[in-house]
Amino acid sequence: MTEVARTRVAIVGAGPAGLLLSHLLAASGIESIVVDRRTREEIEGTIRAGILEQGTVDLLVASGASTRVLTDGRRHDGIELWFAGEGHRIDFPALVGRSVWLYPQHEVLRDLVAARLAAGQDLRLGATVERVDGADSARPRVIGTDADGAPFEIEADFVVGADGSRSVVRTAVTEGTRGDLFREYPFAWFGILCEAPPSSEELIYSNSPDGFALISQRSPTVQRMYFQCDPDTDPEALSEAQIWDELRKRVPGTSLVEGPVFQRDVLRFRSFVAPELRRGRVALMGDAAHTVPPTGAKGMNLAIADVVLLHTALTALLLEDDERGIDAYAEVALRRIWKAQHFSWWMTTMLHSTPDAADFDRRRQLGELRSVVESEAGRTYLAEAYTGWPLESRLV
Ligand code: PHB
Repeated sequence: MTEVARTRVAIVGAGPAGLLLSHLLAASGIESIVVDRRTREEIEGTIRAGILEQGTVDLLVASGASTRVLTDGRRHDGIELWFAGEGHRIDFPALVGRSVWLYPQHEVLRDLVAARLAAGQDLRLGATVERVDGADSARPRVIGTDADGAPFEIEADFVVGADGSRSVVRTAVTEGTRGDLFREYPFAWFGILCEAPPSSEELIYSNSPDGFALISQRSPTVQRMYFQCDPDTDPEALSEAQIWDELRKRVPGTSLVEGPVFQRDVLRFRSFVAPELRRGRVALMGDAAHTVPPTGAKGMNLAIADVVLLHTALTALLLEDDERGIDAYAEVALRRIWKAQHFSWWMTTMLHSTPDAADFDRRRQLGELRSVVESEAGRTYLAEAYTGWPLESRLV
């Protein structure tokens, strides 16, 4: 016998977007069921980026989803763009009156999981979703097997796919077509976590003849750093000495504090937007709807912007039978998504070197970097996009 559960909103994916949506819906009196194929340890242990936009932080705090971000996170008032042997600071508050916060995504997840469990959220982990049926009907259904291998179905008024870049829900929305809205890049990031104090007060994004590097942070004793590598690099193939050599030559003129490397990974990335974000009573958000390269630190923040819109649209639909918001969802969300796509692509192409770059390309890139750092308008655009455009909740 298949267990059939009924709820108002079925959310597939217990990442930051799925959990925050369930949190906001609950505050509006709308119950939901959240399912994810991962266990709690896997969800909370996934290593992801660490920069939150001002608007993301304000929302986490105002909604009661995380107040720890204010005590355990750290405000960053700028970044350093490093090229041609020199650093150039982009001063966020002076340019746009906002900042960003360094607070790793898995900490956001820990806060959200704890908040949802404390509130009695129906959260089904270790459950594999096979498909979503009935997108065009009034009662779409999520079909899968639970942690013990028993089949289940969830019948809902609305289904949200927040199930990441390999989304299963996406098939119900796009009928399996991938579309052609994507870009691949001929490089990846070699990422490390190491035990050391910070090498600099703020993040350093560096363009060098040897390729890109990012010096980021996690805590006073743990640092996160990345350097551009070939997408086929085996993370185990480099010795610690080789890793530090690569990093050092890419941030010439800074003094990197080295320490034991205890975690390493190779991150491939691409830009992608799903050809459709909604069909009938199924919608996509977060990485299920779009992915961006990590250079602009936009991934999770963009997912949160989708959550805000979907929360407004679903409250109007489910509490007032008003369909205008959900009808406008894709169009309104896509405006910000394409701005973020552009910004992430721009930061990526401005800072990385391509394997076939000619001397012309390299000098043009330095010209581009100079036009940003030597112009208040250029620095302001970067600061506006990096700290995040204001979060919109209005759809109509
Ligand atoms: C990180 O700390 O992991 C991080 C920070 C900024 C980025 C990407 C990743 O742009």
